[in-house]
Amino acid sequence: MALIFFHYKFSLFSLLSLLFITFTSSHIIPRFPSPLIHPEQQIINSGSLQNGLYKTKFFTQRLDHFNYNPQSYQTFQQRYLINDTYWGGAKKKAPIFVYTGNEGHIDWFTQNTGFMFEKAPYFNALLVFIEHRFYGKSIPFGGNKKVAYANSTTLGYLSSTQALADYATLIIDLKKNLSATHSPVVVFGGSYGGMLAAWFRIKYPHVAIGALSSSAPILQFTDLVSPYVFDNIVTQDFKSESENCYKVIKGSWKLIEEISQKHGGLELLRKTFRICNNYMEVDALEGWLQTAWVYTAMTDYPTPTNFLNPLPAYPVKKMCEAIDSSKREKDRLGKLYEAANIYYNYSGNAKCFNLNDHSDPHGLAGWQWQACTEMVMPMASNKESIFTRYEWSFEDFSASCENEYKILPRPNWITSEFGGHDIEAVLKRSSGNIIFFNGLRDPWSGGGVLKNITKSIVAIVAKEGAHHVDLRYSTKEDPKWLKDIRKQEVEIIESWIKQYYQDIAKI
Ligand SMILES: *[C@@H]1O[C@H](CO)[C@@H](O)[C@H](O)[C@H]1NC(C)=O
Ligand SMILES: *[C@@H]1O[C@H](CO)[C@@H](O)[C@H](O)[C@H]1NC(C)=O
Ligand SMILES: *[C@@H]1O[C@H](CO)[C@@H](O)[C@H](O)[C@H]1NC(C)=O
Ligand SMILES: *[C@@H]1O[C@H](CO)[C@@H](O)[C@H](O)[C@H]1NC(C)=O
Ligand SMILES: *[C@@H]1O[C@H](CO)[C@@H](O)[C@H](O)[C@H]1NC(C)=O
Repeated sequence: MALIFFHYKFSLFSLLSLLFITFTSSHIIPRFPSPLIHPEQQIINSGSLQNGLYKTKFFTQRLDHFNYNPQSYQTFQQRYLINDTYWGGAKKKAPIFVYTGNEGHIDWFTQNTGFMFEKAPYFNALLVFIEHRFYGKSIPFGGNKKVAYANSTTLGYLSSTQALADYATLIIDLKKNLSATHSPVVVFGGSYGGMLAAWFRIKYPHVAIGALSSSAPILQFTDLVSPYVFDNIVTQDFKSESENCYKVIKGSWKLIEEISQKHGGLELLRKTFRICNNYMEVDALEGWLQTAWVYTAMTDYPTPTNFLNPLPAYPVKKMCEAIDSSKREKDRLGKLYEAANIYYNYSGNAKCFNLNDHSDPHGLAGWQWQACTEMVMPMASNKESIFTRYEWSFEDFSASCENEYKILPRPNWITSEFGGHDIEAVLKRSSGNIIFFNGLRDPWSGGGVLKNITKSIVAIVAKEGAHHVDLRYSTKEDPKWLKDIRKQEVEIIESWIKQYYQDIAKI
């Protein structure tokens, strides 16, 4: 997830862009993927994938599912992508696999969810990927993003509960159109999309028979897990490669501050890190480095990838190798540059790094609003952290949101609506057929469900795994643990579908 700047000092990490919130110090809170600073051309923009994978459709969606004011009856066009090549058809009650879209362009997530395409032939499944309202091309208010994002009057319709209701409405209508009322629906999602998949199964058991919820931090909310957990995992990722690597990064914040205060220091930093000469600020430099370390930890995949940025296999290891390649004190900044260069310039095309680039290639900006309303995920750094120490302050966070949107966050709404406290006991009593996948190298796994709950609510935990690695396309280089996990997920989903057919045969 990514870095978003909010008033300069305040940026938010989204889930794929870990919404990073930089407060007055240089501290940053992560969000999911990162829209900030992409010197690379994304492969997905080349268009070659765009046409061959699915057909694009639009559905007339209701603006507000929970209100009968005349204004609520307004509609908007919601995008969804569909692939029926492998579908066994309505007569055979062949399954429908639905991806519950995240906080960004649905085509981007679709192209990073190869698992569904690769398994569709085996299941004879119809594939549907639904875009989340207010993202991509699914913008209310006539598709006019300026109006939709203008202020709380219009942004107020951007929420997880509205999104889930959109998904239910669309799926029910699509099944009706296909005369496929009896086809079982399984929902899939990664990151925030994974949270939505799990919540969808919990809230709409009559629409989906099961959910694969990958890297979904449904417990990263107030009073559920420690606010330090995210940061601790990033720290551990680097420490696990080498103690020196951890120490160099940990020591860099003070070093950078000190150098920046010297005469000519800022210019020295600019040149060392090859920052473009249009804009240079020490806070922005620190945020830029922090983004590199956090997102690389999140996407520490075992094979070369291009999700947030093009990266080699095991990129955290590569970064630490760069940092460890010289122990001489005076090379320190140069080594940090080399490590950051792995995240920002693996393709080798960057001329310089623009700290003032606020482009958002995956359209993740709406997360800021979501973080300021219901997705309040407390984050902090303790004294062992690889980043500078920082305590979570709901008051500061809330003040920033009020300043930005003239609204106050509702930190307890998500747990009121979906639960979270005592999750094991509650899900045991109330739900079934959910896979929670987490990779423990992924800092978001700290807010994930890591324990088996019942026979059908299963936690699959990969020690070496990163952010929703299971949903990615398979490659020849995939390690055995990853192949095993995907196989296990297929077997579990197959058992749900079998059970469903047995149950309806009895009726
Ligand atoms: C569905 O996806 C496959 C690749 O998995 C592709 O070959 C096929 O053309 C796609 N079908 C449609 C209708 O887009
Ligand atoms: C929000 O923006 C719209 C359109 O620009 C405007 O009419 C409305 O008064 C604004 N509402 C608030 C609460 O600022
Ligand atoms: C179902 O069919 C109606 C009538 O053609 C259409 O307006 C609607 O968009 C379709 N639903 C979906 C989910 O595509
Ligand atoms: C990016 O990598 C290429 C190839 O290694 C290198 O020539 C170039 O200087 C790098 N760009 C920056 C900004 O460091
Ligand atoms: C949960 O149970 C499955 C078997 O159904 C097992 O493979 C998996 O390792 C268990 N998960 C945990 C976290 O113990």
